[in-house]
Amino acid sequence: MKIQIDHKDFELMIEHEQVKKRLRLIGIQLNVAYEYSIPVFIGVLNGCFMFMADLMKEVHIASEVCFVKMASYNGDQRQEEVKSLIGLSHSLKGREVIIVEDIIDTGNTLKEVIQMVEKEEPASIAVCTLLLKPDALEHEFEELAYVGFEIENEFVVGYGLDYNGIGRNLKDIYRAV
Ligand code: IMP
Ligand code: MG
Repeated sequence: MKIQIDHKDFELMIEHEQVKKRLRLIGIQLNVAYEYSIPVFIGVLNGCFMFMADLMKEVHIASEVCFVKMASYNGDQRQEEVKSLIGLSHSLKGREVIIVEDIIDTGNTLKEVIQMVEKEEPASIAVCTLLLKPDALEHEFEELAYVGFEIENEFVVGYGLDYNGIGRNLKDIYRAV
């Protein structure tokens, strides 16, 4: 099935049913790994919203859920890029943290999110991403413990992911053709 978003063609790549099946398995892994703790799931907005909602339905252990957003702006006089996490309202000190991402491409965003979370001195950090582009990855992450699907170096939309701001609401995942 083909669709058009902002004059660009996309074809169906991963159906929602396939995503749901994968999330059931990741859920089982999380339920076992964090059985004896109360982990904090931190979703990185905007892209994670659908994935996070479906993933958390498969997590049955006691856990906390919150969302953050990366801010980047040229703030100070030295024109340095200032980055911060918006939305982290409570302390992560001593907590088991699971960062939830929609997609890891170069890994630059994730690297910064991890650095900001590390400052809070959590007991552990794991990363759960729906999609990973191994060939685009520019960093190594020992935290990368849960991956939904590894994909080629291609552009995808849907299920939270956007193209020029459009397409986040699509239930299935599409690739650019
Ligand atoms: P990274 O910092 O290069 O890993 O890229 C991370 C961000 O780029 C993701 O959180 C997405 O917002 C965006 N991104 C990367 N690849 C795609 C894609 O294929 N479709 C939609 N957004 C993408
Ligand atoms: Mg993202």
